[in-house]
Amino acid sequence: MLSYQHIYHAGNAADIHKHRALAEILDRMTARGRPVSYFETHAGRALYDLESTEALKTGEAARGWLKIAGDARTLADLPKSYVSAVRGVNDGALGPNYPGSPLLAASILRAQDRLHLFELHPKEHAALSESVLSDRRISVYRADGYEGVLSLIPPPRNAGLVLVDPSYEVKSEYGQAAEFAAELFARWRDATLLIWYPLLPAGRHEHLLSALRKHFGDGDLTTSETCWSDPSSGRGMYGSGLARVCFTRNVPGSGKNITGS
Ligand SMILES: C[S@@+](CC[C@H](N)C(=O)[O-])C[C@H]1O[C@@H](n2cnc3c(N)ncnc32)[C@H](O)[C@@H]1O
Repeated sequence: MLSYQHIYHAGNAADIHKHRALAEILDRMTARGRPVSYFETHAGRALYDLESTEALKTGEAARGWLKIAGDARTLADLPKSYVSAVRGVNDGALGPNYPGSPLLAASILRAQDRLHLFELHPKEHAALSESVLSDRRISVYRADGYEGVLSLIPPPRNAGLVLVDPSYEVKSEYGQAAEFAAELFARWRDATLLIWYPLLPAGRHEHLLSALRKHFGDGDLTTSETCWSDPSSGRGMYGSGLARVCFTRNVPGSGKNITGS
């Protein structure tokens, strides 16, 4: 099922939570010498107009990025690389364009790094391809992201990050993300994996986390959750979660918590 379109939610509080953590991880990886291979299983269209009809309809960006963009103190607390990526798609200003995770990563990664982006939705895939057309470091695939990433790894020598960012419209996606994590690390012990998940009253993310805990120990699995409303109010998504898996003995400095944890 491919009805989800991220334009309705781009630049919301969950995007800020996820993109901030992504920027911090990539900042650390690019501070080291090794080339980085970056993979996204669910890339989206990469560039979002936060003043589009769709974004205005939900008002999520207005309560998220567009609010932060006018708040110097909050901006100062964000990774410089994140803020700079937003400026990069706005001729130096802070809106109304917003970079999705592919353009954020492309902005931080270096000439020697490579990006592999998977997107199944035909229109999102076309928009994604258009957004990154001129960047020769990037390969875009219209294919299932889980199968696609597993078919490409492990890349020789490179350090690597895999972002898994499904819409979770279907219950089985929680289990699918956990199964993917197990398969990824069976093939590529050196990877870092970042999985985004929603905090919803039904609590389905617990299924994802308990499945991850069966495969990965405490030191290797870290989580970060942020809440913006009362979970018991029963009114949809009340927060955003991130699970990061990384075998800490492989990567110096990787035991640091992700943002907000
Ligand atoms: C939450 S959005 C991605 C947002 C993006 N990662 C960002 O932060 O800017 C999820 C995207 O995954 C796509 N998608 C859904 N199932 C997929 C699959 N199995 N493989 C690849 N893409 C998929 C959807 O069409 C949608 O564009």
